[in-house]
This record gives sequence, C-alpha cells and structure tokens, in this order.
Amino acid sequence: MLRLGMAEADTQDQDDGPMAFWEFHDLLFHTRSLGGRHVYPVGASYRFQGQRPSLPLIKQACGGEVVTLPRLSAEMAARMEAPLSRVLESRRSLREFDPRPMTLQELGAFLYASARVQKTMRDNRHEEDLSLRPHAGGGARHPLEIYPLVRACQGLEAGAYHYDPLRHALERVPGEPALLKELLAQNPHIVEGPQPPQVSLCIAARIGRTAWKYQSIAYKVINQDLGCLYQTFYMTATALGLAPCAIGSLDASLTGEALGVDWRREPFVGLFTLGCATGQPADAMGNAT
Ligand SMILES: Cc1cc2nc3c(=O)[nH]c(=O)nc-3n(C[C@H](O)[C@H](O)[C@H](O)COP(=O)(O)O)c2cc1C
Repeated sequence: MLRLGMAEADTQDQDDGPMAFWEFHDLLFHTRSLGGRHVYPVGASYRFQGQRPSLPLIKQACGGEVVTLPRLSAEMAARMEAPLSRVLESRRSLREFDPRPMTLQELGAFLYASARVQKTMRDNRHEEDLSLRPHAGGGARHPLEIYPLVRACQGLEAGAYHYDPLRHALERVPGEPALLKELLAQNPHIVEGPQPPQVSLCIAARIGRTAWKYQSIAYKVINQDLGCLYQTFYMTATALGLAPCAIGSLDASLTGEALGVDWRREPFVGLFTLGCATGQPADAMGNAT
C-alpha cells in the first residue's frame, strides 16, 4: 500500500507535519473533488444523460402567494451607478443595523442587480436549459436557491420567501410555523447589537442540477458558485448603501426543516445577512440621500 501511494508512513512528527491541520472529512473531500489522487472520472461527464432529465432551470413553485418585486427604480439605478473602484474600496462586512425597515424597492433592487436571470439558453446537445445571471456559476447551471427570511421590510409581510430569479418575484413559503419562528429569531450578530438584520438570505443548492453534468467536483463547484454569489451580494449591497455580511456557519438542518426543504435534494449551504446600515439614511457610498 505504501508503494502504491495508498497509504503514507506514520512519520512521528504528526503534530508539526503537513497533515496536522487536516480534518478527515476535509482531506477526503479535497482529494476526491479534484483530479490527481484517484482514478475516477472528473468533470463534465454528463453521466445522467439518457437516464433521467436534468433538473429544470427554475425550481417549481410551491403554490404560495407571489409578490412581484420592483426592479431598479430611478433612485436605485442611480445608487448602482457608483464607480467600481469606490464600491471595491468601501465594501465591508457590516453587522450593526439601523432599526428602520428595509424598503421593498431596496430588496427588489438588491435581488435584481445580483441574482436575477438575465438570459436563458437552450443546450440542444444535452437537451437542457441554462441561464446567465450577474454572478458567475459553473457551467451556467446556477443550482443556488435564495430563500429570504424577512424580518422588517416596508411593503412585505415578515416571513419566509423563495426568490424566483426568472420572474423576479418572491413566493411565500408556508414552512413549519414554530420552526420558522425559531429561525427568524436567530440573529448571528447578537454580539454586535440587539437589532437583527432586516433580512437573512438562506441559500440552498439543488445538487442534482450541478451533478447532472459534473462528476466528482459537483459539491466543490457549488461552493465556488456560492463564493461568486456572496461577492456579488457584497458589491450590490455596498453600492445600494445596505449592510451586508456573509455567514460561514448555519443550522442547515433547522433551516431545511423550517422551510420544508429536503436536505438531500437541496442542502442549505450558505447564509448572508442584509440590513439597513447605521449612521446613514441609506447610502453607504457617501452620496447625499
Ligand atoms: C465565507 C465567509 C464566511 C463568513 N462568516 C462570517 C460569520 O459567520 N460571521 C461574521 O460576522 N462574519 C463572517 N464573515 C465576514 C468576515 O468576517 C469578513 O469578511 C472579514 O472579517 C473581513 O472583513 P470585511 O468583509 O469587512 O473586509 C464571513 C465572510 C466570508 C467570506
């Protein structure tokens, strides 16, 4: 096994050695989700084609009340005109929130500018639909689903929603009332202050959408997609004068159960808080509002 590279010698210096920082699951995930240390197919193998159809471009609606979101109003469009250099320089994770509710204009502009479907494409060869959005996504597959948990937004009832990026609309998620209440009560920034973010964006991944094409690397690609989405959220929120913060850990189990989402089909992989920045009425870019 040593000769074949299947095992490595126990080198006595384990505490200082190159393996000291690896947890078992990280090491397994790393070696198995890239090429080089195994013999399995890696990449676009389309192994499910001909056996089962690809998951649809847009997740099927669950029949809840639909709220069409505003796009970019003149005021929001003006905020989005902020120069890229200023957005990059002033982008920060903000964890303290003004008590005023966010407006539907702000939430609509944020989702429109960062996450809507800009264009759909038909891949005839593989008989499936793809899309282009403001954030990059491996293979244009876009498996990430955004579930805004709304605590305070003028013009929108508090509760849980699912974002439809094609219609630019929110669909109310019925969810499990007691668990939803528990989820809405969670404030990842409680140490910084008692005012919770106006909205938490819970992000799930329809794993089958990516795994239908990619083999060995699907979960890794999904996490890379998530990084692109996070950064696009950060940039958009900064331009709009909102307070953004990525959150690294989440209770994926509670989130899935509360929103009625099966973690095996659509695991929750990310969380992002969004609120009204303190100290300025709306515009963190320093523009007079
Ligand atoms: C993947 C990721 C996970 C993060 N998780 C958390 C978190 O759980 N809680 C938090 O307050 N900030 C979190 N942050 C924000 C970082 O702490 C922040 O980006 C870092 O301190 C640098 O500050 P800046 O974003 O203002 O430049 C996270 C950021 C990223 C990209």
